[in-house]
Amino acid sequence: MPDSSTSQTNVETLMQSGTKKDLLRVLTCGSVDDGKSTLIGRLLFDSQQIYADQMTSLQTDSKKFGTQGPDIDLALLVDGLAAEREQGITIDVAYRFFSTKARKFIIADTPGHEQYTRNMATGASTADLAILLVDARLGLQVQTRRHSYIASLLGIRHVLVAVNKMDLVEFSQRNFNSIEEQYRDFAKDLGFEDITCIPVSALLGDNVTMASQHMTWYRGPTLLQHLEAVEITNPSDETGFRLPVQWVNRPNSGFRGFCGTVAAGQIVPGDEIMVLPSGQRSTVKQIVTMDGDLPIARRHQSVTLTLDDEIAISRGDFICSTDHLAGQSDQFQAHLIWMSEKELFPGRSYLLKTCNSTVAASITSLKYQVDVNDLSHQAAKTLHLNEIGVCNLSLGQAIAFDPYRDNRTTGSFILIDRLSNETVGAGMIDFSLRRASNVVWQDIEISRNKRAAQKQQKPAVLWFTGLSGSGKSTIANLVEKKLYDMGRHTYILDGDNVRHGLNNDLGFTDADRVENIRRVGETAKLMADAGLMVLVSFISPFREERQMARRLMAKGEFIEIFVKTPLEVAEARDVKGLYARARAGEIKNFTGIDSEYQAPTHAEIEVDTVSSPAEQAASQIVDYLKKEGFLDFDETS
Ligand code: ADX
Repeated sequence: MPDSSTSQTNVETLMQSGTKKDLLRVLTCGSVDDGKSTLIGRLLFDSQQIYADQMTSLQTDSKKFGTQGPDIDLALLVDGLAAEREQGITIDVAYRFFSTKARKFIIADTPGHEQYTRNMATGASTADLAILLVDARLGLQVQTRRHSYIASLLGIRHVLVAVNKMDLVEFSQRNFNSIEEQYRDFAKDLGFEDITCIPVSALLGDNVTMASQHMTWYRGPTLLQHLEAVEITNPSDETGFRLPVQWVNRPNSGFRGFCGTVAAGQIVPGDEIMVLPSGQRSTVKQIVTMDGDLPIARRHQSVTLTLDDEIAISRGDFICSTDHLAGQSDQFQAHLIWMSEKELFPGRSYLLKTCNSTVAASITSLKYQVDVNDLSHQAAKTLHLNEIGVCNLSLGQAIAFDPYRDNRTTGSFILIDRLSNETVGAGMIDFSLRRASNVVWQDIEISRNKRAAQKQQKPAVLWFTGLSGSGKSTIANLVEKKLYDMGRHTYILDGDNVRHGLNNDLGFTDADRVENIRRVGETAKLMADAGLMVLVSFISPFREERQMARRLMAKGEFIEIFVKTPLEVAEARDVKGLYARARAGEIKNFTGIDSEYQAPTHAEIEVDTVSSPAEQAASQIVDYLKKEGFLDFDETS
């Protein structure tokens, strides 16, 4: 997943630097009580990755916090920070590095608490293999199913089921066999390439790094043997070459190199390439690195390519092999893991960041939510923290991509909230919907300027926002009358009216309000295009949607008018009697009562309806329009 955090970047660098030396990226999944920390501690301990100073503090800590009496508590090696120890759970993704003669390993350890899907997804997006811990006494848990689904969704193809605490079930073969059978049955549709089940006792060390003396009936590998031997094939090795261009290196006029990290496939000098989105072709001249030219560039390597032809390539472009091109689209179906405390709003404009570009995107429809406990599909209007859904996305412009199942780098994205800059979702592209390529913008002969000129006016969108009962509609009506009297062509879009027709399928949840404003913004845009002065009077409680509406309009055309009436005043007026009903609990999600209103911070106009009459507010707005030249008309403009 693309991720902006530094710690993640460091881990990525570490992971990438080790690839040449056969690195296995392992994700561990299990709950606090399954003995996961003990298992990892045992792996590190038995493969002698513990240094003298760690050992001393481990002995001290074991006495203080340990759960093993006088013995060393290996879990403490892993459980990290003191605060977490006291809390008794691990709470973030921790990466640990160790090596044996055969291989190097990075273990991503994610907490088992069920609400931590988000962390698990972060750890899983680069992992080759997942270790799923199952407590031999309890068998498969909801957790096991949940973790398996997320692992499969994030493209992990190898699973090791460690049936732990075998010592507590008398090393029973029957017990182990039944768990193995149940798991294989459950996981048969998850698309794993291989599932290996191993009975272990992390506490005693049985079958972790050494074969168990207690379970002679088990003839398979120990956990470490399996980790050392498992063969990982990566689908992106088989797809074509992909280099998302991170920057263009032009130290002098004689050299032009395209730098980036190879996301898939390989390339040698002389290979033909195509640049997306331009579609231009050339051949690779040299593969330049700090350590001299390379005969071949492979996945994960950071390289600079020079080409035989002078073609225009810029940051964000994709260099691909011509035999297997990446797709290009601005409409996708994708799986989405929601990572924010704030729910997903279909219709809201988010930023979508892929490995090489950032574009505007919105969820056009949420098809269903996946219940990760039983994998069933549920109808949903939104996604909450840690929920997973399948949705259609529409992007502001086309991007180059591969489906996630072919390439985890070029097929993944994150969604970012425009205002808070928070990463709110992580997505996996399923496929392109290709609708957009069939729908092209039609240039219409009569331009918006001509339409406005015929009306002898400048189009404008006067966007009134404020609480219910603040006076928006009253003032908008007065302004419209004044404009009408001046011979202007106007139209009022009013919340109460539009909700009777175009938006009569929408209620007052946050998600419905987002969609309400999206539609009204688009309608206002069409009307401004037609040359009208549009007055929009909606509560429009969220900053993000008001900004979205602003972005839709031509520059300078959007005028935000904050009708700044405090809640007490609007409530005291209670023209429609709705506040009283909201207070009585008869109306839910009422703005200002139990639904948020985000006041504008940079509105072009603020009007006060408390100390002056609506008529004065209307004059103030018309004066603004005059002063800013909205009421002038220049034939030549
Ligand atoms: S918005 O929040 O989505 O912009 P909009 O302006 O369309 O709201 O509709 C607000 C009008 O709907 C209010 O003036 C009021 O008459 C009515 N209404 C009914 N229920 C609610 C509610 N729960 N919250 C706010 N307004 C409501």
